[in-house]
Amino acid sequence: MIRSEILGCGSYLPERCVTNDELAKTVDTSDEWIRSRSGIAQRHFAAEGEYTSDLAYVAATRALEHAGVDVSELDLIVCATATPDNTFPSTATKVQQKLGMTKGAAFDVQAVCSGFVYGLAVADNFIKCGQAKTVLLIGAETFSRILDWTDRSTCVLFGDGAGAIVMRAMEEQPEVPGNGAGHNSGRGVLSTHIHSDGSHYDMLYVDGGPSTTQTVGHLRMNGREVFRHAVTNLASIVDEALDANGLERSDLDWLVPHQANKRIIDSTARKLGMNADNVVLTVEKHANTSAASIPLALDSAVKDGRIKRGDLILLEAMGGGLTWGAGLVRW
Ligand code: UT7
Repeated sequence: MIRSEILGCGSYLPERCVTNDELAKTVDTSDEWIRSRSGIAQRHFAAEGEYTSDLAYVAATRALEHAGVDVSELDLIVCATATPDNTFPSTATKVQQKLGMTKGAAFDVQAVCSGFVYGLAVADNFIKCGQAKTVLLIGAETFSRILDWTDRSTCVLFGDGAGAIVMRAMEEQPEVPGNGAGHNSGRGVLSTHIHSDGSHYDMLYVDGGPSTTQTVGHLRMNGREVFRHAVTNLASIVDEALDANGLERSDLDWLVPHQANKRIIDSTARKLGMNADNVVLTVEKHANTSAASIPLALDSAVKDGRIKRGDLILLEAMGGGLTWGAGLVRW
C-alpha cells in the first residue's frame, strides 16, 4: 500500500501586523468586541504589490527546505486559494514559475476556508493512485483584498498568510510500537474526508466575479448562520474521520483546526474531550487566513517542538460553499 508521508512544512506571514486597536481607528469596532466574539487580537496584511503567489512562494521554499526536498523532485503543486493573483492562470503555476519548475503539473483548489483539507485530499489521492510521487501543497490567501472595510461584521475577522507542506509517496510502514496496531500506527495521511452543501452558497460568498459582475467583489457572510453550521458540521466530520480509522478520541495527540473563531474551536475540542494544551490555536495572532490557516498553525506547532514525529493529528475546516472536511495524519 502507498501512503502519503508529510516530509516538512513552512509558512509565511506578511510583515505588517495590525492590532484590533489599530483597526478600531478606522472601523466602528473595539478590541473588546473582536476578542470576545472571535478570539482575534491581530492579523497580518500583505504589502502593496505583495500577492498571494509571493506569500505562497516563501512558504513553499521554507517547506521544501524543512523537508530536505529539491524543486527538481516535485511532480505536482497544488495551491488552495480563494484569492488568486489573477482570474487565470492558477496561482499554483505562478509559484511553479517562481520556483523555476517547468515539468510536472500545477493547479489551484478552491474550497475557501476548507481549501487546505480539500487540497490534502487531492494530493493524497494523486499520491495513492501513483500519479504523483512528491507533491507541494500550499494554502495561501490575501483576504485583505476582498474585504469591505465599511462592513464591520466581516472586515475585522480576516488576515493574509500562507503555509505549505511537502508530501511524498512511501510504502506503508510496519507497525510503530506504542502507536496501536496495523494501518493506523505508521506515519503519513491516514484518511481525508470532504463534504459540501451548495444549498448554503449564499451564506458566505464574494459578491463579484468574472462571470457575474466582472469585478472582484467583496466578502459577504451571515456570520451567525455560518457559526451554527460550523459547530454542527465539524462535530460530525471529526467523528467520521475517527470512525473511518477505528480510532478513539483519546488516541488523538493534536487538533489543528481551521482558525476562524476561538469559540468554534473550543466547541470542537470540547466534543473531542481535548484540553486546550492539545489544540493548536493561532487565531489570536493570525485571524482567519482561510486556506492558509491550517498549514500556518501546523507549521507553528511543528517548529516550536509541540508536534513530534509519530503524533496523531486531526485537521478540520469549514468554509464557504458550504464546504467542510477533515484529515487524520500521523506526523
Ligand atoms: O472561515 C469560514 C467560516 N467562518 C466562520 O466560521 C465565522 C463564523 N461566525 C462567527 O465567527 C461569528 O458569528 C462572528 C464573529 C462573525 C460574529 O459573532 P456573533 O456572536 O455571531 O455576533 P453577531 O453577528 O450576532 O453580532 C452581534 C452584534 C450585532 O449588534 P446587535 O444587532 O446585537 O445590536 C452586530 O451589529 O455585534 C455587532 N457587531 C459588531 N460590533 C462591534 C458586528 N460586528 C461588530 C464589530 N464590532 N466588528
